[in-house]
Amino acid sequence: MIYLYKVKSYIIYNKLNFKNNSKGWFRVIGETYNLNERVRAVSDEVVKWRRHLHENPELSFKEVETSDFVYHMLESFGNIELTRPTKTSVLGVIRGAKRGKTLAIRADMDALPIHEENEFEFISKNPGVMHACGHDGHTAMLLGAAKILSELKENLNGEVRLIFQHAEELPPGGAEELVQAGVMDGVDWVIGAHLWSPLKIGKIGITYGPAMAAPDSFTIQVIGKGGHAALPHQTIDSIAIAAQVVTNLQYIVSRNTDPFEPLVLSITKFVAGNTDNVIPNGVEIWGTVRSFRSEVRESAAALMERIIKGITEAHGAEYVFRYNRGYRPVVNDEETTQVVERVVRHIYGDDAIELNDRNMIGEDFSGYQQKAPGTFFLIGAGNPEKGITYPHHHARFTVDEYALQKGVSIFVHSAFEFLNRENN
Ligand code: NI
Repeated sequence: MIYLYKVKSYIIYNKLNFKNNSKGWFRVIGETYNLNERVRAVSDEVVKWRRHLHENPELSFKEVETSDFVYHMLESFGNIELTRPTKTSVLGVIRGAKRGKTLAIRADMDALPIHEENEFEFISKNPGVMHACGHDGHTAMLLGAAKILSELKENLNGEVRLIFQHAEELPPGGAEELVQAGVMDGVDWVIGAHLWSPLKIGKIGITYGPAMAAPDSFTIQVIGKGGHAALPHQTIDSIAIAAQVVTNLQYIVSRNTDPFEPLVLSITKFVAGNTDNVIPNGVEIWGTVRSFRSEVRESAAALMERIIKGITEAHGAEYVFRYNRGYRPVVNDEETTQVVERVVRHIYGDDAIELNDRNMIGEDFSGYQQKAPGTFFLIGAGNPEKGITYPHHHARFTVDEYALQKGVSIFVHSAFEFLNRENN
């Protein structure tokens, strides 16, 4: 009772002092529960957990030890209801004392098939496997937030659902499986973040609307007729034809697509032949298409087929074209994004915000956004002064660990902001 009274008087105090300024309202929640202090208190542990995960990376769908580690850690915090929706994922539920709405927070846990070339003391002990995208940090940040929120359970109005997701890096991805398993049932909002080395430490990337692209992939086989390289007229030269296919595919972005519509088409693999005097039977081409809008996505696939068909037919060759649809684009909900933006402005000030820093990378976070309004934001983790400049998916990728406590802080503040403010 005394506690409630205190909260009320804080609200009145802040209302008087800040009038309608949302800062005033927000400070009430943060100050009452000493969130900043709690984040500082847990930050060493968060770094320790990140380093442990970094040393022990596991590939997509194989996060056995990672998910066990997360499960036992959450169990040790107490106050968290735990389940395993799939073999290598973990769902934690923190139920507040008062009924209310549900906020889901998601972290992905998988690593990549890359052999680490870093030199610090906690590099991967698993040869050929590396946390080269920062998912070790995502997992550690959500564990940190879980610890704080579990301690403050009695003060939460509603439910925080902690989604520790497997397999973000490998389509069809873990998000879709978890949605199928029901982790999003009854969720009112979903948030998630990516540590981001192209963004400097201290910056938080907030994006309204389209934020990350739909990452599709394709394979093309150009089938000609092989033969002696000295007698090309007796062959159907698949290399010469495939080279034209590659060149002409570039026209889809430059000549067929509205310049205001983002689209990327990259050829990433071209395999043919193995010696200097043989024209091979066929060529294999691989690549990726990135887009935001479904109309652009559909038209890119159709235009590709038209070009491949036209060129191969013109030269008497054949083709097999496979277009594989990847994750949906990440499209951030306006109101949900506003709440997170407000939280970031309150904790770190206006200068921290990097607005609408979109990119064409894919993220299966979009799977959750089919079920509830959500927002995905970027946490600056690059630091040229410390030599932290390598891109994601690079053998020397790492993050500035100071970014971790920023993630924890935004998660816990957001939980109170969504549940204890937006609820009422
Ligand atoms: Ni990633």
